[in-house]
Amino acid sequence: MLIQQIRHLLALLLLVTVPMAYAADPSSEQAQQEMALMAQQQQVLAAQQQAIQTLQQHPQLAEVELWSAIKNGDQGVSAAQTTGAGKLINVVGNEGKIVRSEYMMPAAAFAVVGVFGLFLLFFLVNGPAKLAHGFSGKMVERWSQADIWLHWFMAISCLTLMFTGLNILLGRFVLQPILPASVWAALIYGSKTIHDWISPVFIVSWVICILKWMPLQLFKMYDLKWFVSVGGYINFGPFKGKHPDSGFANAGEKMWFWTLALFGLVVVVSGLLLLLPRLDLPRDVSVFALLAHDAAAVILIAFTIVHVWMATVLSEGGLESMVTGYCDENWAIQHHNLWYDELKSDGRIKYK
Ligand code: HEM
Repeated sequence: MLIQQIRHLLALLLLVTVPMAYAADPSSEQAQQEMALMAQQQQVLAAQQQAIQTLQQHPQLAEVELWSAIKNGDQGVSAAQTTGAGKLINVVGNEGKIVRSEYMMPAAAFAVVGVFGLFLLFFLVNGPAKLAHGFSGKMVERWSQADIWLHWFMAISCLTLMFTGLNILLGRFVLQPILPASVWAALIYGSKTIHDWISPVFIVSWVICILKWMPLQLFKMYDLKWFVSVGGYINFGPFKGKHPDSGFANAGEKMWFWTLALFGLVVVVSGLLLLLPRLDLPRDVSVFALLAHDAAAVILIAFTIVHVWMATVLSEGGLESMVTGYCDENWAIQHHNLWYDELKSDGRIKYK
């Protein structure tokens, strides 16, 4: 009875408002919009009426069918205008949530703890890659001031994205249980805000870095030998004392560069899809972008840990070049012999 009364009331409302909108000015934009809205409301009303009728005729059957259709992600009619508003349950969203918590979260935890632990173990067993002839004290120019600024803008923004991103992904398991609620709330809100606002710094510096440094990072045949002798970083067995040929960048650095180029692209594109609300993406695309963002970030985090280890502790004399722009001559000869020989023979070598 109540449903019928509501239906009569709505029908009456439509009867009264439609002629009024026409009377105002049928060709005006406002009248057109109102007409479109009313047509939509009528459509929703018709769909509701049909659903009510089906439920009244076959109460049990209709409920089962309705619920299983909703669970399978069936699309209905809604007056809301946003993409996917007609779907009550987003099946891909639920599946994406499972992939994220069952695969991405453990992978991210391994990328941090596992890679760091494995490298620490390797370092304890192997020790640092020392300069065979010690430091010469003669400093050779390797990076320009512009390159140094570029590297640190990209590195600091990227590390900030990694720390805040890891907190967004794993913080609720690692930090939330041990922090007071107010501190955790501030931390997670801060992480999200910083993650959003620092990303343009990373994107701009990453684009410039990839374009500017690409010519230095092309693979050559001699890079294969670098891989075979593990770059000359191993201090025992048949690898000990080996110093494979290397140009400006060695094969390991080239691999890092191209990983950063490829997975950086995935992270940047998927991040922009997630960040820009006006895109109003279908929910399936958003879920896919989120998973791609997570997977690419996990790979970048693992490689970054290796890169920082190599630059800071493994390669004696390596960090100096990215701080001052100059490297020790003996470091250049041991780690980048072909580049050093070329500079010498061309007369382009610059000492401090
Ligand atoms: C505390 C963190 C970091 C340190 C200490 C560090 C250190 C260094 C050093 C010393 C070099 C020069 C190696 C050479 O002259 O041959 C270098 C190069 C480079 N860094 Fe970093 N870096 C850090 C973080 C990052 C991050 C987060 C990224 C990526 C977003 C990055 C990307 C690169 C790239 C692409 C190169 C050039 C390729 C190479 O030489 O490996 N760095 N870094």
